[in-house]
Amino acid sequence: MAFLEMKNIAVMYQKGQRILENFNLQVERGTFLSLLGPSGCGKTTTLRTIAGFLAIQEGELLINGKLYNRVPTHRRNLGVVFQNYALFPHLSVFDNVAFGLKMRKVEPSERKKRVMKAIEIVGLKGFEERLPSRLSGGQQQRVGIARAVVIEPDVLLMDEPLSNLDANLRLEMRAEIRRIQKEIGITTIYVTHDQSEAIAMSDRVALLNSGRIEQLGMPQEIFYSPGTSFVAKFMGFQEIANGTVREITGGKCFVNTGETSLEVRSSSEISRGCKAVVFGRQKNLNLLKERSDNSLKGLVKAKIFQGDSVLYIVELGDQIQINSEVSVEQALWNEGDTVFIAIDRNLSIAFKREERKWTNFKSI
Ligand SMILES: Nc1ncnc2c1ncn2[C@@H]1O[C@H](COP(=O)(O)OP(=O)(O)O)[C@@H](O)[C@H]1O
Ligand SMILES: [Mg+2]
Repeated sequence: MAFLEMKNIAVMYQKGQRILENFNLQVERGTFLSLLGPSGCGKTTTLRTIAGFLAIQEGELLINGKLYNRVPTHRRNLGVVFQNYALFPHLSVFDNVAFGLKMRKVEPSERKKRVMKAIEIVGLKGFEERLPSRLSGGQQQRVGIARAVVIEPDVLLMDEPLSNLDANLRLEMRAEIRRIQKEIGITTIYVTHDQSEAIAMSDRVALLNSGRIEQLGMPQEIFYSPGTSFVAKFMGFQEIANGTVREITGGKCFVNTGETSLEVRSSSEISRGCKAVVFGRQKNLNLLKERSDNSLKGLVKAKIFQGDSVLYIVELGDQIQINSEVSVEQALWNEGDTVFIAIDRNLSIAFKREERKWTNFKSI
């Protein structure tokens, strides 16, 4: 049985507007799961539901087999880390970290032992007496983490904890958070809108779309095998061709584009004869001088010198434009030239094309 389970959960902020509905999530003990998705998709709402800040209208929240629906926030043994640190400015690092243990009436000598251990785990030994205002952003977030884990919570909840840090520090703190999580072996739910962060840090990634989990899987699955075009787009794929599915065999399919026939991976949503859109990643689109097997013809719209590489913008018809980056030595084409794009049959995927909604031009 999963350690944390959300079963058919419905929650709302205002009557009649359910943000989560029939929401299901299972998190195994000791795993690091990311809730990933665009702004407004319901990541924070999911965390707030687990933390007890939002009433559950329908469904069940279970932690370690126990029903939590009606357990008040302060009785849920959860550690929470926010984006804005939320430290007490007038308290030292030690007292910030000790706060939760004081509230729980842990006696002073035990308290000191646990606080010092938490401070050491997050790498802040020697900073016990500092005030938060004399710490860098990264150090403040370490205090936030120490404060959350010192109470030995059942689950650690983190809501975009790195978004206030600059790019280099974010990379460093990714690795730090993962090290700390592994060291204490704590079940963690981590909210982020940054794909690379989720991919780099997690055992499991749940990609949310409008209050639903669109796909849940290991980072490799989400990255290489998106199950829907929404996941594909969010994970950095782009449209490269439209066509009709001619044939499907063993995970592969052939898509007639009018100009040619492409062999690519098939997704579960397509069937023979359906309209399909093929997705690929910029990194896997190589330019060719001549047509070869599994390639598309394009027109060079722009050639942009970038110092150590050249970026080509190539039009493939159907209003599809792709970017392809090549080394300076391989930049053989100029604007207006015809070029061919190699389509990697193992790294490109066909999804069902959503019907385009045509406006009614006849009105009045
Ligand atoms: N306090 C609130 N009152 C009303 N609606 C809210 C509130 N907080 C969030 N929402 C709405 O709930 C949806 C999900 O928001 P949220 O969970 O914060 O998304 P995310 O964290 O993925 O960006 C959004 O449509 C948002 O407008
Ligand atoms: Mg949020």
